[in-house]
Amino acid sequence: MKTVQIAIDGPAGAGKSTIAKRIAESFNYVYIDTGAMYRAITLKAMRLNLDFDDPDGFGFIDSTDFAYHEGKLIMDGEDVSDRIRSRDISNNVSLVSSYLSVRKKTVKRQQEIAQNINVVMDGRDIGTNVLVNAQYKFFLTASVQTRARRRYKENLERGIMSTLEDLQREIEMRDQFDSTREHSPLKAASDAIVIDTSNMSIDEVVTIIKRKVREDE
Ligand code: C5P
Repeated sequence: MKTVQIAIDGPAGAGKSTIAKRIAESFNYVYIDTGAMYRAITLKAMRLNLDFDDPDGFGFIDSTDFAYHEGKLIMDGEDVSDRIRSRDISNNVSLVSSYLSVRKKTVKRQQEIAQNINVVMDGRDIGTNVLVNAQYKFFLTASVQTRARRRYKENLERGIMSTLEDLQREIEMRDQFDSTREHSPLKAASDAIVIDTSNMSIDEVVTIIKRKVREDE
């Protein structure tokens, strides 16, 4: 039977992960958060005391084990899902993920994981690079103010201290870096459906995506 792939891309704080998780749950598909993998690589590089400015220092990825289990990312047997959300990781991950050597290894792993399963994958280059043949591609956007507010609320819930102003600045910097990098920059695939979620609730976006997928069933 042919498997179904749903790609959800967009900038930081556009609601991708919450929405992707909900879609995966309702169709009983596997949810894969690809940003988590770049964050985990950044965490491991930090622990190894590597120089982030050296693109050749990431050979360790080859011998690193990544597994997704019930929405959690397990790296080398350790559940790193919470640790990778910290600010030090957020502020370094874009540099790490901009290196071609890092992307090649990471994208290969992501493609292997998505093989032969029904999957909802979110990230920045899923529709344009990782799952180019995905049957469904969505690109979620929202104003930077809305995205900063959402991140602020999320951080509060996770007990992470931040101010709205700092978050907005950090999000703007990350978007700028991600969308202007040389390799697989953040952009909508030409065949993606673009949804501006600024004035929409999570439920509304989930409904639109589910309707689109069901239309073809
Ligand atoms: O999705 P999240 O905000 O956790 O992603 C963290 C960072 O990982 C992004 O800002 C981007 O630099 C990188 N990323 C990427 N390609 C993906 C997913 C994330 O380059 N598919």
